[in-house]
Amino acid sequence: MSDFVEIFEMGPRDGLQNEKRLIPAADKIALVNLLSSIGFRRIEVTSFVSPKWVPQMADAAEVLAGISRAPGISYAALTPNLKGYEAARAARADEVAIFASASEGFSQANLNCSISQSLERFAPVAEAARADGIPLRGYVSVVTDCPFDGPTPPAQVARVAAALRDMGCYEISLGDTIGHGTPHTIRAMLKAVLAEVPAAQLAGHYHDTRGRALENIEQSLALGLRVFDAAVGGLGGCPYAPGAAGNVATEAVAARLADLGFETGLNPVLLGKAAEMARSLRLENP
Ligand code: HMG
Ligand code: MG
Repeated sequence: MSDFVEIFEMGPRDGLQNEKRLIPAADKIALVNLLSSIGFRRIEVTSFVSPKWVPQMADAAEVLAGISRAPGISYAALTPNLKGYEAARAARADEVAIFASASEGFSQANLNCSISQSLERFAPVAEAARADGIPLRGYVSVVTDCPFDGPTPPAQVARVAAALRDMGCYEISLGDTIGHGTPHTIRAMLKAVLAEVPAAQLAGHYHDTRGRALENIEQSLALGLRVFDAAVGGLGGCPYAPGAAGNVATEAVAARLADLGFETGLNPVLLGKAAEMARSLRLENP
């Protein structure tokens, strides 16, 4: 029996944000335009964060202005605060995302504030998005392991996920930011989160540092999740998560899902081309 699973493409944002060489906006635009022909419903294009913190995303408005928008695709952007939200709205992002951490150590490293301060900062973003009719997504990072605080208690993930849901996030993406999760720890985490938020409002966002992301996706499928974030070419890493490797590669997730009998609606030939383009952007780095 076939079943639809959506892959939310992260390559232009999570995939590229950690690259040291400043990639020209034209190359990012070309990648997004190619991705727009593959069958994705949602593509995370960029983030409106401090350019001092993440210089690679300083061209967020230029990239969103330069892409050719295909009908039916939601072009998304990360927004850590109201300043970022207002810039994303001006750049006509179709949806925005706020991003919290399940550990205090990663919250400080990534957002320069505690978890509760970050939630306070997100509240006006959520309010503005609701008033403007812009869909709001939420992330929880370090859902199994934190590079600063060690193993993450599942109850802590559930608490933050519920807070984001209460703020109006239509979907909460659960980030194994450093790719140390195993089917066992992912299962324990999901069990706790599912007691608060239904599977239909959850997504898995797994980095592949230890090569276990596909197993973790299978575990999540078994618990009812049907949306996964991935980046073409396995690009990625978070600048504030030491040792974090790439996102799980979209083409690998699509192939595994096909083997398991799930539909993704993605064109495998064009996906291969996009993976090649994504890898070439990285290879051009010194
Ligand atoms: P801060 O230094 O505490 O902020 O950083 P601030 O409010 O004091 O502002 C400092 C400066 O930044 C000021 O400029 C602000 O105007 C400017 P100055 O007066 O010094 O010239 N500023 C901004 N500029 C542009 N856009 C903005 C913005 N906000 C302030 N939105 C802040 C706090 C949140 C801004 C900072 O920590 C930040 O930008 N963090 C983002 C870090 C980031 O992007 N991390 C990667 C994304 S998260 C991720 O990858 C995980 C995920 O993939 C899931 C997973 O894998 O787990 C989503
Ligand atoms: Mg990530």
